[in-house]
Amino acid sequence: MINSLKTKIKNKDANIGIIGLGYVGLPLGVEFAKAGFTVTGFDNDTKKVSEISKGNSYILDVPSKDVKSLVSSKKLSATSDKSLLNKMDAIIICVPTPLRKTKEPDISFILSATEDINSNLRKGQLIILESTTYPGTTEEVILPKLGGNGLKVGKDIYIAFSPERVDPGNAKYKTKDIPKVVGGISETCTQLAALLYSQIIKEVIPVSSTRSAEMVKLLENTYRIVNIGLINELALLCDKMGVSVWEIIDAAKTKPFGFMPFYPGPGVGGHCISTDPHYLSWKARTYGFETKFIELAEETNSYMPHYVVDRITGGLNTRKKALKGSKVLIVGITYKKDINDMRESPALTITNSLIEKQAKVEYYDPLVPNFKIDGLELDSVALTKENIGSCDCVVIVTDHSSIDYKLIVDNAGLIVDTRNALRDFKEQKNIVRL
Ligand SMILES: NC(=O)c1ccc[n+]([C@@H]2O[C@H](COP(=O)([O-])OP(=O)(O)OC[C@H]3O[C@@H](n4cnc5c(N)ncnc54)[C@H](O)[C@@H]3O)[C@@H](O)[C@H]2O)c1
Repeated sequence: MINSLKTKIKNKDANIGIIGLGYVGLPLGVEFAKAGFTVTGFDNDTKKVSEISKGNSYILDVPSKDVKSLVSSKKLSATSDKSLLNKMDAIIICVPTPLRKTKEPDISFILSATEDINSNLRKGQLIILESTTYPGTTEEVILPKLGGNGLKVGKDIYIAFSPERVDPGNAKYKTKDIPKVVGGISETCTQLAALLYSQIIKEVIPVSSTRSAEMVKLLENTYRIVNIGLINELALLCDKMGVSVWEIIDAAKTKPFGFMPFYPGPGVGGHCISTDPHYLSWKARTYGFETKFIELAEETNSYMPHYVVDRITGGLNTRKKALKGSKVLIVGITYKKDINDMRESPALTITNSLIEKQAKVEYYDPLVPNFKIDGLELDSVALTKENIGSCDCVVIVTDHSSIDYKLIVDNAGLIVDTRNALRDFKEQKNIVRL
């Protein structure tokens, strides 16, 4: 059984199924298809299935021309028909892992994908979970379900976890350049998963268990959230001390060892950084353990959007204006630059707070033509001299590369820059920096 699967993988004859064709699943599926595998993407969202079937990409990092050529050469297809899972030799689960309102893990998407696999399971399949989740999920949730069919894991079927480290919008490190960590339920499971990924990824790092592989991802994102929390706290202090946090980071990062720069901002967002550490703190609580660093970082980071609103209010105040009734233009609405993902974006908290305080809010984002907030539909305005000039305050929340910052500096009465996007513009009266 194992040798036949190994041969199929090495010869690129293995059929690969990807469950969830989002920011993670689509680039991964495209990479396997480009390497010569036949890839079937499974998604409940029929719009995504139809776009892929027409050869269109909806993820900025994946060019439509790649999807089109892979679909027409029958290397890539998409479907919502889960019965086809039975035909797959390897299945990779890339479904969302959000938080409930109570900030507890919501693994319902993993459960439903596991049910779909279970209903179509056969001997010889390799199943890998890539969704970020708490340590223990693969062993405690997937293993009992798939291993409860009389099939022996490590002999009849193979199960592993491999954290996804893709960084949407990062032109330097794409899927194939980012080393892949894998941990299986057994040694054989690890070997098979490592063999599969080594077909498309330059470096594969095996670890001793699924639990360790799950923990690796949470260490990486906890490290980020804690350091972002620290630098946000120092940004608040630097403002009080009248020194520039940006200048200090630039100087500190010249130290060739022992320092890695993190930057302050309007708060954290996205499906990972703002979510994953809560998976760890939730699991830690089941061991009677409190993850104090995570809670503290969360407290500081979630204060940042409100701090930005305070800086807007302060800036208007020095111009003898009240926030109520002032026209505020938010520039950049996504959670980070050069992507179109708005999930958990701090810009949404800032917008909500400004609306609540009765400011007149407009936004400009070259990558998001419109969005809804609390039932209110907003369309991106054009970034023109007139629109900028008619606003009481322009707030740079997301520093997309394509934005004409000179146009903003030349025409705005007041700018609050939360990202140091205006670093090349020397001190000017109309700029308030974080
Ligand atoms: N976005 C990132 O930058 C990133 C990076 C690393 C890890 N991750 C992790 O990867 C996972 C996926 O994230 P994403 O950003 O790709 O999510 P996404 O929302 O962009 O995509 C998930 C897709 O799964 C589909 N789906 C949900 N349940 C399904 C089911 N039962 N069957 C078939 N399709 C189903 C959804 O329709 C959606 O298209 C999450 O656990 C996330 O934490 C994301």
